[in-house]
Amino acid sequence: MKEVNVGIIGGGLMGREAASAFSRWCVFNDMPVKPVLKAVCDLDENVLEWYKKVATVTQFTTVASELLKNKEIEVVYVAVPHHLHEELYKQVLASGKDLIAEKPFGIDLKSCRNIIDKVKESKRFVRCSSEFPFLPGPQKVIEYVRSNKVGKLLEVKSGFHHSSDVNTKKPINWKRMVAYCGEVGVMGDLGMHAVHLPFRLGYYPISVYADLQNIIKKRPGADGTMKACDTWDNAILHTRIEKEDHTVPMTIEMKRIAPTETNTWYIEILGTKGGVKYSTKEPKTLWTFAIEGVTQRWQKEDLGFKSVLDTITGGIFEPGFPDCFQQMLGAYFAERAGSLGERFHCATPEEALLSHQLFDAALRSEKENKVVNL
Ligand SMILES: NC(=O)c1ccc[n+]([C@@H]2O[C@H](COP(=O)([O-])OP(=O)(O)OC[C@H]3O[C@@H](n4cnc5c(N)ncnc54)[C@H](O)[C@@H]3O)[C@@H](O)[C@H]2O)c1
Repeated sequence: MKEVNVGIIGGGLMGREAASAFSRWCVFNDMPVKPVLKAVCDLDENVLEWYKKVATVTQFTTVASELLKNKEIEVVYVAVPHHLHEELYKQVLASGKDLIAEKPFGIDLKSCRNIIDKVKESKRFVRCSSEFPFLPGPQKVIEYVRSNKVGKLLEVKSGFHHSSDVNTKKPINWKRMVAYCGEVGVMGDLGMHAVHLPFRLGYYPISVYADLQNIIKKRPGADGTMKACDTWDNAILHTRIEKEDHTVPMTIEMKRIAPTETNTWYIEILGTKGGVKYSTKEPKTLWTFAIEGVTQRWQKEDLGFKSVLDTITGGIFEPGFPDCFQQMLGAYFAERAGSLGERFHCATPEEALLSHQLFDAALRSEKENKVVNL
């Protein structure tokens, strides 16, 4: 297996997930390449400390340009707050390295467009992180829809819900401040996850009416004093898509304050002949709708481990978050090596742009309290 040297810029929550996924690459069968984590950059020395347990890392730095000067590194995964996406993604591309970018791929629409200009100019291989479609359930949803079992499309619902912000005493962090997370707030944080699969199925909104809520307006800071928590907490986008000879409502929900939901990603697609539902709340269950004679029924099926890329893990076992994140990274490296073929690929910069166009229209819809056409 050919080795590809990798660097990480931003070693926090997601940087560690990526490091862990690279370290467990032996799970894959028939993988053409193996990423080897060689360099890590984080502003915070304490964050770098954790990476000392990853034996392959030889460069630890607090300055991104130092990592980018490292000629050994071919691919860089960048997982930093959103206000730094444009600057750091462009630096990575200018250094001649390929990029695994985190969502939302720029703090806003303008920033996303600027990054895409640089991607085109540099001709580097770039994909955007969005891992949930790599679970077996969403893969089955795609298979179901593409096999024309749905009939005439009736409606689509897709969403991603968190609940920890129900706790009003939860300290503030960069994800809850417009300056670092972006004016799009929760849409920048959770939105790419909610739109990735609908977009891939060809469900592109032609209009949006947005219900955006900022429910908790202050949260305690590190010093205990209350700070402004000025981002949108919850967003419900009532969109419309065009299909065949009719229009179809598609609801995209992104919520940080969804009581009881720890990390619930879901999709529901209903048609006149069939339907399919999947939620990480029941991670191994696929619901499908069928009509037999006069009987209409939902039926559920237990799914196993099979995802996009073949692994050594037993087919009846259950996957989780680290597995779909690793599958996504596997797809990135397989596609980069030219061996992914027709299998599901990571979100593209163009898909990230579509998501920003939708979120930007949602902001205008909220401000003007009207339906915005896309
Ligand atoms: N794909 C997913 O499921 C998922 C989940 C959570 C977050 N994210 C995305 O990942 C990115 C990072 O989020 P996170 O949760 O890991 O955040 P985090 O706060 O846990 O980590 C960010 C890290 O970046 C470091 N950093 C800040 N400025 C830097 C700079 N100039 N150079 C180097 N390091 C710098 C910080 O010190 C911190 O350690 C965001 O884009 C976020 O939207 C994706």
